Amino acid sequence: MTDNYAVIGNPISHSKSPLIHGMFALATGQDMAYQAIEGPLGQFAATADAFRAAGGRGLNVTAPFKLDAFAYATDLSERARLAGAVNAMKFEGERVLAENFDGVGLVRDVVHNLGCPLQAKRVLLLGAGGAARGTLLPFLAERPAQLVIANRTADRAQALAAEVAGQGPVSAGGYAELTGQAFDLVFNATSASLRAELPPVPATVFAPGARAYELAYGKGLTPFLRLARNAGAQRLADGVGMLAEQAAEAFAWWRGRRPDTRAVIDRLTVPLA
Ligand code: ATR
Repeated sequence: MTDNYAVIGNPISHSKSPLIHGMFALATGQDMAYQAIEGPLGQFAATADAFRAAGGRGLNVTAPFKLDAFAYATDLSERARLAGAVNAMKFEGERVLAENFDGVGLVRDVVHNLGCPLQAKRVLLLGAGGAARGTLLPFLAERPAQLVIANRTADRAQALAAEVAGQGPVSAGGYAELTGQAFDLVFNATSASLRAELPPVPATVFAPGARAYELAYGKGLTPFLRLARNAGAQRLADGVGMLAEQAAEAFAWWRGRRPDTRAVIDRLTVPLA
């Protein structure tokens, strides 16, 4: 029998998840279908209930429903709890198991695909919203030398740092405090790039040979990546690998088989230049 999965969001037509999971299913020989559901606003629970009643096995969740999914879950993983948001769910009878694979997907992309271990590195994270939050535990698990969170609203960054203070060398502040500090890896987890804006990060944060990573996907050379390039950052990346890896994590969680992501990344890569 074909097992049914879906991604739910609003809007949803832009989602690459059906393509990605379709490719994974083909490559691993899984008998499954994966559709996109445009959920009516304010009706996440009713839409998820209907999908489950029809035999649905699991959902990916995207904007604006990640917090609704958090509330809908009966069993939250530690990662999902700290992220405060859910991007994958698995249905087992009455139970709704909930996960957030964005951060582990990002780390896996950086460490495995880009060949850049985070251990002992100086890491700068820009932003303190939902996207940034999900990266904290996976970053700290890699044992960086330091993790600095910078945000326009410094209080938000400090609140995030306080939540994970026991987990590793984390500190936080505003952008002005970055003057005079240099990092090996700089991640842009703000939503600025979605509006072609530049977070006010000093160009001096990029240490010689630094890497710059834009969590947004498919925006080409964003103002952040351009700044990094002009400041001498050696390698630039966007979130295509993160997108593929978080999908692979969900797929493995659902199906017990971890698909290879290379073909998906090749298919979805948009040139940065
Ligand atoms: P997301 O879920 O995408 O993280 P969010 O929770 O609304 O969205 O958070 C957006 C993040 O981008 C915040 O860190 C925000 O900074 P503030 O907390 O100070 O608002 C950051 N952001 C958005 N536009 C920005 C800009 N032009 N410059 C700097 N930071 C920006």
